[in-house]
Amino acid sequence: MPRHIAIIMDGNGRWAQKRGQMRHAGHKAGLGPVRMAVEACAELGVEVLTLFAFSSENWQRPIEEVGRLMDLFMEALEREAAELNAKGVRVRFIGDRRSLSVRLQTRLNETEDLTRANQKLQLLIAVGYGGRWDITEAARAVARRCASGALQADEIDEATLQEELALSGLQDPDLFIRTGGEQRISNFLLWNLAYTELYFCDTLWPDFDRAELDRALAFFTGRQRRFGLTDAQAVAR
Ligand code: FPP
Repeated sequence: MPRHIAIIMDGNGRWAQKRGQMRHAGHKAGLGPVRMAVEACAELGVEVLTLFAFSSENWQRPIEEVGRLMDLFMEALEREAAELNAKGVRVRFIGDRRSLSVRLQTRLNETEDLTRANQKLQLLIAVGYGGRWDITEAARAVARRCASGALQADEIDEATLQEELALSGLQDPDLFIRTGGEQRISNFLLWNLAYTELYFCDTLWPDFDRAELDRALAFFTGRQRRFGLTDAQAVAR
């Protein structure tokens, strides 16, 4: 079983358009599979689930779609926070929050505070997140430490940067899932996906059900993870 699953929930807009509906109807329908994935991961003992809800590039979408998505996040958190808390889910948000409305920022903080002590499953929601933004922020933090004299440039190693990334302290994703037919990483967790098993499926996110998740898990079970080692070394590990 993967300990950490990361998902790009793609295909909401196309799902709605196929039905002659507005794109935001697809985002709304996408909440169903979010609930399913959270419940399944909690039940299966997955430790971390990271969902790409809004990328740094998504700000360039039509203003109406962005506004509707922000309303959807707000409503979903208002409605689901207590339930997530009751299920023992710790919710955290990764990404640049500064462009979000103050109301939404407050809601994110409240949800994090409410669920902070929970241990069943960590749900990371990427909002205003970009992999390059993440690495740039980490580089800035490391540079500040150097400038203050707390760190020498020669002491910087991979762990130094990793500690400053949004997923600091968490294990990297074991399994990445992208729905909607595209086979790209789209500036998701660029650093942390280095050795992740990548699973792509054509299913549009609103149609991603438990059977689809089980197919992704079966794919993961069939992979031999080598982390750069030979077959024999990996087996011996
Ligand atoms: C990509 O589909 C999906 C998004 C940009 C938004 C995903 C958000 C949700 C499913 C809501 C989640 C809410 C919470 C609180 C976790 P797309 O619009 O790019 O689809 P397309 O490729 O068909 O256009």
